[in-house]
Amino acid sequence: MFSGVTTRFVTFEGLDGSGKSTHLSTARGWFEDAGAPVLATHEPGGTLLGDGIRSLFLDPSRGALDGTVETLMVFASRRQHLLEVIEPAIARGTVVLCDRFTDSTFAYQGFGRGVPLELLRSADALATGERVPDRTLLFDLPPELARERGQGQVRQTKPGGVDRLDAEDLAFYSRVRQGYLEAAAREPDRFRMIDSSGSELETEVQVRNALADVLAEFSGAAGVIGASGASGAGG
Ligand code: TMP
Repeated sequence: MFSGVTTRFVTFEGLDGSGKSTHLSTARGWFEDAGAPVLATHEPGGTLLGDGIRSLFLDPSRGALDGTVETLMVFASRRQHLLEVIEPAIARGTVVLCDRFTDSTFAYQGFGRGVPLELLRSADALATGERVPDRTLLFDLPPELARERGQGQVRQTKPGGVDRLDAEDLAFYSRVRQGYLEAAAREPDRFRMIDSSGSELETEVQVRNALADVLAEFSGAAGVIGASGASGAGG
């Protein structure tokens, strides 16, 4: 039914406060309006196990975690997510919009925490078989601006405080951004750069353009084909 079509696994990446989750939700609406089967999901999380890992991962009351512990947690969540949710959905022809994936681990644990990249590649091989998204939208903006915007958001894990990664300093987020930019420069065919320093509408136009060809595959589709319902997370 979808012969010749390759873009099914689309990830949304960027700093906390970059607006990616809001735009993922908007994009899900576009696919639904086009009658396309679409699933919005998120990492860490997306399964019962993953959501449990997510709350431990973000909870500052659990104490400091080093980058390796963080790596093992996010890859455990990711493997379960791939097996239980992502791969079955793609096999059904569903467009999967995923809020963060392995690029986050290279950016946050690799560039942010300093976990050696070759160790991350080994963990990735073990956990996902080096699964790479078909397309990645990178929401880029200076960390100062991301922080300003992020402070207006409420995270789901904590009753009223900042979560463990919110508490990191600007130098950490500058390294994370650098990691993302290097990844995008290495794989220009997969990445679409979204400048999210402007207004929400300016960003939305870029997101629409970055997905226009995928949406076009479904214009004229007969109807909705069983989109199932994992929900996205904020951020
Ligand atoms: P979110 O708020 O965008 O859902 O992301 C949760 C936090 O987890 C965010 O600060 C980034 C962090 N994170 C990592 O450090 N490594 C990862 O592999 C993933 C997926 C998220």
